[in-house]
Amino acid sequence: MADPQGFDFQLDDGQTPLGPDEARGLKLSWVATRGDLNDAEGANIFTAMRWAAREIRKKRVVVSSEDFLRQLHARMFGEVWEWAGRFRLTERNIGVAPHQIAMQLRQLFDNVGAWQEFGAYLLDEQAARLHHQLTYIHPFPNGNGRCSRVMADLFLQSHGAQPFTWGPAPHDQRVRQRYLELVRQADTGDLEPLLRFVRS
Ligand SMILES: Nc1ncnc2c1ncn2[C@@H]1O[C@H](COP(=O)(O)OP(=O)(O)O)[C@@H](O)[C@H]1O
Ligand SMILES: [Mg+2]
Repeated sequence: MADPQGFDFQLDDGQTPLGPDEARGLKLSWVATRGDLNDAEGANIFTAMRWAAREIRKKRVVVSSEDFLRQLHARMFGEVWEWAGRFRLTERNIGVAPHQIAMQLRQLFDNVGAWQEFGAYLLDEQAARLHHQLTYIHPFPNGNGRCSRVMADLFLQSHGAQPFTWGPAPHDQRVRQRYLELVRQADTGDLEPLLRFVRS
């Protein structure tokens, strides 16, 4: 699909088209191609990961919170996009209605607290559920997949566990296809294959 700013976005399966509102927020004038954008976002995400690792090491943040989610998204994408850290205002083919985002996030983070309090799931399953629910809610105009995967990894690390094996951006097409299949399977309530995948 042609983008309002003339980007040649590669809309592979599961990638959300930007609405005209959000596509307008590019901050960097040198970004002219998809490759430029990948480079710019990659560099931004790299810096954000270092920031997050430091915050967690110093125990300065609660990962499963709206506040941290927004901060993380702002850190991951804020050098590239104006809308980084701000919730989506338009409907998508994935995700809840925009006015539901804050409420659903509140519910999710409450649930995570309850899972921990009552030992409902093992830590890996908590992280996988957190990731899946975040992609399902789809709070931001873009970057939901990457931000949700990083959230799960940081959640694990904040509890002294190893991150999952996926990295913020599974670039390999085959791995990405498989990942998307498993996310969709998790939509139907079957989390098991995704759980195996994230430790494979
Ligand atoms: N059917 C689905 N249910 C839930 N999440 C999905 C579904 N399809 C795709 N996703 C998630 O949405 C992400 C793509 O959303 P997007 O905001 O473009 O993130 P990113 O820009 O980081 O790829 C995918 O990586 C995946 O995590
Ligand atoms: Mg995207």
